[in-house]
Amino acid sequence: MNSICKLPKHEQKLILAHVLKLDYSKTLDPRIISQISLKQQTKINKIVQKRFLGKPLQYILQEAWFLGNNIKVKSGVFIPRPETEYLTAMFMDKVKAIINLDQDLPVQDDFVIVDLCCGTGAIALALANELSSSEIFQQNIKIFGIDSSKLAINLAKQNKKLLSLNNLQFYQYKLSDKLVKIENKLIANIICRAKAIISNPPYIPLGSKIADEVVNYEPPEALFSGYDGTHLAKAIIYQAGTNPCQYLYLEAHETNVEKLADFAKNYFSNSEVVKDLTGRKRFLICQK
Ligand SMILES: C[S@@+](CC[C@H](N)C(=O)[O-])C[C@H]1O[C@@H](n2cnc3c(N)ncnc32)[C@H](O)[C@@H]1O
Repeated sequence: MNSICKLPKHEQKLILAHVLKLDYSKTLDPRIISQISLKQQTKINKIVQKRFLGKPLQYILQEAWFLGNNIKVKSGVFIPRPETEYLTAMFMDKVKAIINLDQDLPVQDDFVIVDLCCGTGAIALALANELSSSEIFQQNIKIFGIDSSKLAINLAKQNKKLLSLNNLQFYQYKLSDKLVKIENKLIANIICRAKAIISNPPYIPLGSKIADEVVNYEPPEALFSGYDGTHLAKAIIYQAGTNPCQYLYLEAHETNVEKLADFAKNYFSNSEVVKDLTGRKRFLICQK
């Protein structure tokens, strides 16, 4: 067990959850160490050795945890991050507040939520899982996830099945990074019906300092968009802004979020920059 101790605490927890087939949150109990068999210990050692070679742990385990949901991950698809959990939790609170206000929403009025650049589907899946207990979810709420990567969409569909979720659809589509109308009728219709959009698009400016394990292992199209990282984010603001969508929650880079907030003022009456838990400006919340 010595080698695992050299890894950060959250990685130790991920490994224990994986090998012992536990919920990630249950690995805090120190008594579980005494339950580890020799076979499990060998498995842990193998994982730790691979991790020391630099591959991101979630790609080794082929899973990640996102807001309490176990999400399948594979090489070629972006690993969901804790800061996105924070954005999703804020978005979830907003959606719940709107649903409560709209208690008498007529059955025929769908409440459409779209997760643009959905990757593994982590955000859309977490929303569907959390909202599925409300009665209104079964009647009115429809959630869509859209991503350009076929690998990501296949994985998102697999995750939906594994979590036994409904009222949730994933589509492969490459959004233009230009400010243009969406040609594809199905996707244009989904965006047009969206009341709220959430997105964690590629947003890293070129030339930024990035950890080796990110650059060497994660798909570049999930990381970069234009020299300053704003191209796709602006296109997403444009799509949300020129359609009836009321709310847009966007993750961005600390160096470009203010620029995006200024751009969003062309379409939204309110655009607020929000800090993450470490105090960095990372999120843009827009409302019409
Ligand atoms: C930073 S990752 C976020 C994935 C997921 N939302 C999450 O938080 O884990 C960005 C995602 O955008 C997708 N993407 C990149 N360019 C795109 C485009 N033009 N249209 C749609 N999706 C795109 C990538 O395939 C990748 O899955």
